[in-house]
Amino acid sequence: MTVEKVKTYVEGFDELLDGGIPKGSLVLICGTPGTMKTTLAYSILHSNASNGSKSLFITLEEDQEGIASAMEELGMKSLEDSNLYVLDVGQIRREHRSEEVAKDWFDILSKYIEQRVKEDKFDIVAIDSLAALYSLFKMDNPRRDLYHFFGFLKDLGTTTFMVSEIPYGKNQLVSFGEDFLADGILLLKQYEVGETDVQLRIRCVKMRKVNHFQGYLTLIRADDKFIVTRVISE
Ligand SMILES: Nc1ncnc2c1ncn2[C@@H]1O[C@H](COP(=O)(O)OP(=O)(O)O)[C@@H](O)[C@H]1O
Ligand SMILES: [Mg+2]
Repeated sequence: MTVEKVKTYVEGFDELLDGGIPKGSLVLICGTPGTMKTTLAYSILHSNASNGSKSLFITLEEDQEGIASAMEELGMKSLEDSNLYVLDVGQIRREHRSEEVAKDWFDILSKYIEQRVKEDKFDIVAIDSLAALYSLFKMDNPRRDLYHFFGFLKDLGTTTFMVSEIPYGKNQLVSFGEDFLADGILLLKQYEVGETDVQLRIRCVKMRKVNHFQGYLTLIRADDKFIVTRVISE
């Protein structure tokens, strides 16, 4: 049985993932601040949207205009049709003002995503970021709440990217066992080269159903696309 794949459109990377990310997967994009997690997630959605998919990018960190203009600077023009829809948490809050007091936020967010996916037939969703989710939504029992939220996302049937910030100086990829719940993990890392240089690298740590390349790859953003190359050992 062949699994249908969603391409990352990162040049050189999809081949090493045996064609891409299995459709329907929940994938974490992990890294410390400034490792281009947001840019990578947006770029995957933008490229797929440019190729006919319908993508929903939910930002909990910036507003719609902020992210769209930052991404335009990085070579991703806003798409004319509604194939890439950017939604900020402010908008969700405005549309659910009356429910805000009464309901649990996780519930509101889940219902909102579910409704948008059903109505607008999005096949790819990104949520930026888990850290913002933790700070915006009070969780009584983070492990249990996340387990349910991840389960909900997987049941949606969309391919979902979850940006996950690793605080500086931490060795742990995640805080509450999200790595165990995710189907895939892409790790971004700033790697010191010599005394003065820093290189951005990416590694597919985990991808269920895929026999993927395990090592680190150099990741560069050139004009309007991401490219990976094998790391030349120093
Ligand atoms: N062409 C480029 N190559 C490498 N880094 C870049 C490029 N353009 C912008 N950046 C850097 O990317 C970072 C922002 O990326 P972003 O996706 O917001 O990171 P994150 O979401 O991981 O915090 C900034 O620190 C910026 O300096
Ligand atoms: Mg970010």
